[in-house]
This record gives sequence, C-alpha cells and structure tokens, in this order.
Amino acid sequence: MRIVNTVSELRDAVRAWRSTGQSVALVPTMGNLHAGHLALVNEAKKKADRVVVSIFVNPTQFGVGEDFETYPRTEHEDRQQLKALGADLLFQPAVSEVYAADAKTVVSVAGLSEWYCGAFRPGHFDGVATVVCKLFNMVQPGVALFGLKDFQQLTVIRTMVRDLNIPVEIVGVETVREVSGLAMSSRNGYLTAEEKTIAAKLYQSLCDARDAVLAGQQSFQQIECRALLFLRESGFTPDYFSLCRASDLKKAGADDRELVLLAAARLGKTRLIDNVCFSRIPLSPPLSKEEAEGRGI
Ligand code: PAF
Repeated sequence: MRIVNTVSELRDAVRAWRSTGQSVALVPTMGNLHAGHLALVNEAKKKADRVVVSIFVNPTQFGVGEDFETYPRTEHEDRQQLKALGADLLFQPAVSEVYAADAKTVVSVAGLSEWYCGAFRPGHFDGVATVVCKLFNMVQPGVALFGLKDFQQLTVIRTMVRDLNIPVEIVGVETVREVSGLAMSSRNGYLTAEEKTIAAKLYQSLCDARDAVLAGQQSFQQIECRALLFLRESGFTPDYFSLCRASDLKKAGADDRELVLLAAARLGKTRLIDNVCFSRIPLSPPLSKEEAEGRGI
C-alpha cells in the first residue's frame, strides 16, 4: 500500500491507474478504523480496480467545544489494517494541504444540513460537504463509499453530488454492529464499560419504534415520544428521535413507505447517533361487504 501526503502525489498515482483503464474507488475516513470502516474498504474492492482510503480529521466539521483535539488518532494501527485488507493507497494529508490559510469557499447543502444533527452541531454538515467535495476533486473517483450509520451525512452527500453534477457514484454500506446491537463508531471508545451496556439501548429503541410502525400504530408522534421517554429513563439525554422519509428526511406522513428512524442521544460525555431504515408495506384497502361474504368472512 502506498502512503501519500500531498495532492500532487495522489493525483500522479490516480492518473497512472486511469491511463491503464483502471477504475478507482474512494473511502473517506477520519481514521481510528473499526469494523465499519473495514466493511467500506471490502465493498470498495468489489466496486473498483483500485481503492484509495483517506484519513483526515477534518477541523471544519467540528464545532467549538467539540472533540477535534481529542478525536482518537491511531495512525499506526490504521495503516496496518489497511495494508492487511489490500487498500492500494492511503491519502493522509495535513490540514494545510487540504485548506488554504485564506480559504473562502464553503459547500452548503441548505435545507437539510440544519435539521437533526445539524440543529445540535451548527456548521457540521457544511464542513462535511466541503471536505468531501474537495476529496472528490482531488481523487476524482468513479465510486465513493460511506456508512449508512451516518444517514443524514449520506443524504447530504448524495444531494450535493446531484446538485453539483459531481461524476461519482455514491454507495451506502450497511452499519456494522457489536453483538449487543450498538453501532460501531470511533466515538464508542469514549464510553465506560457500564455506558457501553446502556448504549445498546439506542438501537433497541429504534427497533421497537420500527416494530410499532410496522404493527400499524397510527400516531408517529406517540411512537417518538415513547422512544424519547425510554431513552431518558435508560440514562440518555436525547437530542432527537424522528421518523422520516428515507428519500429526503422530511417528517414521515401516513402515506410514506420508505422510512428511516433517526436518533441521536448523549450518554455521559459521548454523543451517539444511529438509525433504522425500513419499508412499510401498503395497507390493503378494507374488503367490501360482498368481497367479505364471498370469502366467508
Ligand atoms: O464520516 C466521516 O468519517 C467523515 O464525516 C468524513 C465523511 C470522512 C468527512 O470528513
């Protein structure tokens, strides 16, 4: 695996592959790799001839008082894992390589970035959209892979790619979970052993809410309120718990079929996010009197 720190070395390597007709996949990460990231790399290998992984703890997506300084950096272990997995190139730039000191341009997917996590982390998705757009311009991959766990992030990126006509296919990869159901995340490392047991209840609350929707419970608001109560009683401070349309993250209505439950909650010092996507099978219209009689009901 080649390791490069500059955009010009990165471009030379990608250009050489392209000149021999090889396709390129990009897996953007902030490092501290876990099984979720490794699933992205494995999927990338199926989608393209060459796999570029970026490790860059992006300062512009962290707010004041957030964990930019303390975000886990595990360079050596990350390199070993990527080598063992067969990634072709690791791009690990310094902040000054990515952002000019007087950078003035920000990519903002308005009307989506302010909701849910964006309401609690103002500016976060502008930082994500900007750095992902820059990475796409640096690597020019044919395909890029992101975890479904960060569902709002994935929706922001898909919308940006559509709106800016960026020629890249975006692939969402299934969330990898611990046996307890807890979604893998670099921030799980902040949890104490006791908190880790409680943390699995976030996924449980999502599954219970999904089952209530699928069982035909009509009031989505009641389902959300019950989940928020369950989370509070379990020791979380929830930020939001929302049933949304999977396509655009607007609040789900009675006729929507493709849904996602999005949740974020703080547990001690750790902020956890998770989601569950599911399809609602259209309810069959009630039988007419004649049909019911014909079926002997
Ligand atoms: O999901 C992440 O790790 C980051 O938000 C990303 C997409 C690498 C951008 O910094």
